Amino acid sequence: MATGTDKDEHLDRPLDVQGGGQSAGVMARGEVEGNAFNPAGNPGVNHWQASYIGREGLEDRGNIFFAAVEMTRMPMVVTDPNLEDNPIVFVNGAFLDLTGYKEEEVLGRNCRFLQGPDSDPATVAEVRKALQEQRAVSVDLLNYKADGEPFWNALFIGPIFDQNGKLLYFFASQMDITERRSMLEANLQAQKMEAIGQLSAGMAHDFNNLLQVINGNLELALLTAGKTAAGDPIRRAQRATMQAGKLTQQLLSFARKQRLEQKRVSLNGLVVEFSDMLVRTLGDKVELRLDLKPGLPPCSLDPTYLEMALLNVVINARDAMPEGGAVTVGTAIVNEAHRAASRLPPGDYVSICVLDEGEGMAPEVARRATEPFFTTKGLGTGLGLAMVHGFVQQSHGRLEIESEPGRGTRVRMIFPVTQQARDEDAGGPDFATAAAEEGRKCRILVVEDNEDVRGLAEAMLAAANYDVVSAPSGETALALLAREPVDLLFTDVIMPGGMNGLQLIEKVHEARPGMPVLVTTGYMDELPARSAKGQALEVLAKPYDHQDLLDRVQAALHGRRAA
Ligand SMILES: Cc1cc2nc3c(=O)[nH]c(=O)nc-3n(C[C@H](O)[C@H](O)[C@H](O)COP(=O)(O)O)c2cc1C
Ligand SMILES: Nc1ncnc2c1ncn2[C@@H]1O[C@H](COP(=O)(O)OP(=O)(O)OP(=O)(O)O)[C@@H](O)[C@H]1O
Ligand SMILES: [Mg+2]
Repeated sequence: MATGTDKDEHLDRPLDVQGGGQSAGVMARGEVEGNAFNPAGNPGVNHWQASYIGREGLEDRGNIFFAAVEMTRMPMVVTDPNLEDNPIVFVNGAFLDLTGYKEEEVLGRNCRFLQGPDSDPATVAEVRKALQEQRAVSVDLLNYKADGEPFWNALFIGPIFDQNGKLLYFFASQMDITERRSMLEANLQAQKMEAIGQLSAGMAHDFNNLLQVINGNLELALLTAGKTAAGDPIRRAQRATMQAGKLTQQLLSFARKQRLEQKRVSLNGLVVEFSDMLVRTLGDKVELRLDLKPGLPPCSLDPTYLEMALLNVVINARDAMPEGGAVTVGTAIVNEAHRAASRLPPGDYVSICVLDEGEGMAPEVARRATEPFFTTKGLGTGLGLAMVHGFVQQSHGRLEIESEPGRGTRVRMIFPVTQQARDEDAGGPDFATAAAEEGRKCRILVVEDNEDVRGLAEAMLAAANYDVVSAPSGETALALLAREPVDLLFTDVIMPGGMNGLQLIEKVHEARPGMPVLVTTGYMDELPARSAKGQALEVLAKPYDHQDLLDRVQAALHGRRAA
């Protein structure tokens, strides 16, 4: 809110005298606007915040100024504070257009009839105080139209005095700024999510390194203690690390920092294949119905993450129906009108939708449902829909949630239809390793800046009978490669300072084209599917377990993808 000067202060200022003294005004000088919306788009300086008039009364309607007030599209109101409860004595046509009331319904009433359940009492109190002090005031206040529809009203009110300073009227202008407010709110929300995303992605990244060390060491411990009494607690600790790994994956998905492996996917095919799992998840009380659109074009996305997203949404649907009911999983082609309304770039889109008959969400819950850690469930993490939202965004789609308390919820994931004619999943040439030909152990160069992670990888590979050398940075790795034969380069992507893993691979391939490489990352970094030289990149996500590592090493050595 912002209020204007009071009457004593007016006298200290030069007044803007008009019409040879017929009226005079106190210039606003930007002070009435404050953080309330000013339609001028800048601090109003020249408009009046209070005025002194020579001719009182509302009957004089024959001049251009009255015509202007009736013609403007800016709603305007005059009230008479000398009558009981400061009633409206004049409204222009634009006020009736804005509020949807008829003139006879508003004349004689105090303007507070525009307020309703969600009008902020503190803002109303500020208006009341300013009016009592006979000052101008400017606020943004939630009001309601005649049909009950809420709107944000940018309200400006100023006092009108006679030449002797007696208060005669209040004048007000109103403006509907609903759209502006909702855009502002959406923007703020997006900024907040971006900030949380960066924070959680950073944390998840470091966390993955730690998990990698914990899990790997547990695996090594299990090699020696597996059959002893210490085996069980180690296995329990391992299960917990894997669960922690899943949590960091959800966080990375939310932050749109997950490494997605895009494949050509038929939504219908995926739902059908996954329906057994869905039925098991829904349990006995909830029935699964499928409503699949035949002939749906395929999209390009990571099927594993789509399954995870679908599962999250279906579990929410189940949780919303403790007494049981039906969940419908449907697919559809998104029509042009829907695409435009969803503000998606031009193109073809398909959707997968989960519909439940559960308790639904209050508007406040629906608004916050995709926020990470927002949950209304005692045991929920609040990461389910955050993950879904991040995944859908990262796949260039849109997540839409419609929900009505008591009626149920519809969660729709929209994805672009793939432009590719065929999935390019062709593997590279099959490299028979030089080591095998020479009858010696395969030598792997491990490049990793984190000492613990590096030590662990070395131990895991050595345990599988590989010959292992290691380097803490890309530069050291290059020097080592110049001296020694190496069959496989296994490198982390992110290494603070110096060159990163991808740059290292490029350099290595310049000197030794076709040299097998395996990259590992706890982060997505939009890793390219292929190296700069066009060779398919074999990627291992952190945290990995022993078997993952060995599978991927084998796959990289043989230039093909692991199953
Ligand atoms: C000229 C004038 C126009 C007003 N226009 C509005 C309006 O558009 N919306 C609104 O909520 N309140 C408006 N008000 C404020 C209310 O009439 C009232 O002053 C406010 O609710 C505080 O007083 P109360 O606590 O007695 O209700 C206006 C007041 C004046 C004097
Ligand atoms: N289908 C639904 N019906 C009603 N409310 C829902 C539905 N889906 C989500 N919600 C609401 O949104 C909140 C956030 O959902 P989200 O999946 O992100 O977290 P969660 O389900 O609470 O926890 P988690 O997914 O980690 O178990 C839920 O707590 C619930 O209040
Ligand atoms: Mg959930």
